[in-house]
Amino acid sequence: MPVRPVRPLRLAFAGFGNVARRFAELLGGPYGRILRRAGVSVRVTAIATGHHGLAVDARGLPLTRALALVREGHSLAPLHRGKPVASTRALIATAPYDVLLELSPLEPLTGEPATAHVAAALRRGLHVVTANKGPVAHAAGRLKALARRHRVRFLHEGAVMDGFPIFNLAERCLRGVEFRGFGGVLNSTTTRILSRMEAGVPFDVALAEAQAAGVAEADPAFDLDGWDAAVKTCALANALMGATLRPAEVERVSVREITAQAVDKATLEGKRWRLVARAGRDGRRVWARVAPEELPLGDLLVSDGADGVLVLDTDLMGEVGLVESAGGVDQTAYAVLSDLLEVAGGGGGRPS
Ligand SMILES: NC(=O)c1ccc[n+]([C@@H]2O[C@H](COP(=O)([O-])OP(=O)(O)OC[C@H]3O[C@@H](n4cnc5c(N)ncnc54)[C@H](OP(=O)(O)O)[C@@H]3O)[C@@H](O)[C@H]2O)c1
Repeated sequence: MPVRPVRPLRLAFAGFGNVARRFAELLGGPYGRILRRAGVSVRVTAIATGHHGLAVDARGLPLTRALALVREGHSLAPLHRGKPVASTRALIATAPYDVLLELSPLEPLTGEPATAHVAAALRRGLHVVTANKGPVAHAAGRLKALARRHRVRFLHEGAVMDGFPIFNLAERCLRGVEFRGFGGVLNSTTTRILSRMEAGVPFDVALAEAQAAGVAEADPAFDLDGWDAAVKTCALANALMGATLRPAEVERVSVREITAQAVDKATLEGKRWRLVARAGRDGRRVWARVAPEELPLGDLLVSDGADGVLVLDTDLMGEVGLVESAGGVDQTAYAVLSDLLEVAGGGGGRPS
């Protein structure tokens, strides 16, 4: 059998938090093997963080050491080789790499600085893979156009529903299909709180439980008032429906409006309250809304125990639904791998 040549592929991380570190850990094991089978040998040549310094080494950074330094709260600076690099932006503009993995935190209202990071790499003619919703929600059209102009890829499978294949499904498996709209339950924190209220737990207690479990932030407004779902709705509408919506333009109703009495009444009637994200077309305009809805038990959006549900409404395939049973860091790291395999162009990396 002919031996397939292995090409080097250099990665730069903008952000080295939970997702990036999980991806880096698995690079030393299954991810590395899958990528080699797909014809690439990966080397990490640059890492930028917010508060743990940055490091560039064209020969390849020692990943195990980098992981240990950041986990122990130390700076990556001792790993740096070459001229000093002042900032993430300078690293993105000058470091030697082929693919930027943009994994910095989401800033929901502006999508920055992640959008600027993505644009800077694309302008250099370098590929970008991200799990950050910000650039997709705020600038999907512009960034896709920039990528096309520079003949590189801008891929973002991890941005919505972790690693569940939404954007790749739309691009590869639903070719030629038009997305008329979608409905989704995309925020797991509010689903969890509403489910606890169905069991008779008061709203404040259900919220405190979610905070104690680490699934809700100390400031829960991002989840409860629909901002998280609005950012995801924009990312989906902009990437799948060619919209140019911004999160602030999505109509939002908070789940705080739902009283214990309303939950009890729905339960008695065999219904469930869920925070539902919807988008659709009104002529050429795309509208989007995030609001609590009372749904019958048989509705696909009421999938008990699911972290997320999305039902796409298409012209040629009718409704196509995705149910995410459990999402998190592992699934998001996988989305990064899946996008990287697409960039590598070496097929699925499956054993023959
Ligand atoms: N966690 C998930 O399951 C999940 C699921 C889907 C999507 N996502 C998205 O994936 C991205 C990464 O998530 P995560 O959970 O890994 O986040 P995280 O643990 O909070 O890590 C964020 C990383 O970005 C770094 N950072 C902050 N500002 C930066 C800047 N200006 N330039 C470069 N790096 C910067 C942080 O460095 P310091 O720690 O030094 O400040 C940290 O290393 C986010 O956009 C998130 O919304 C995450």
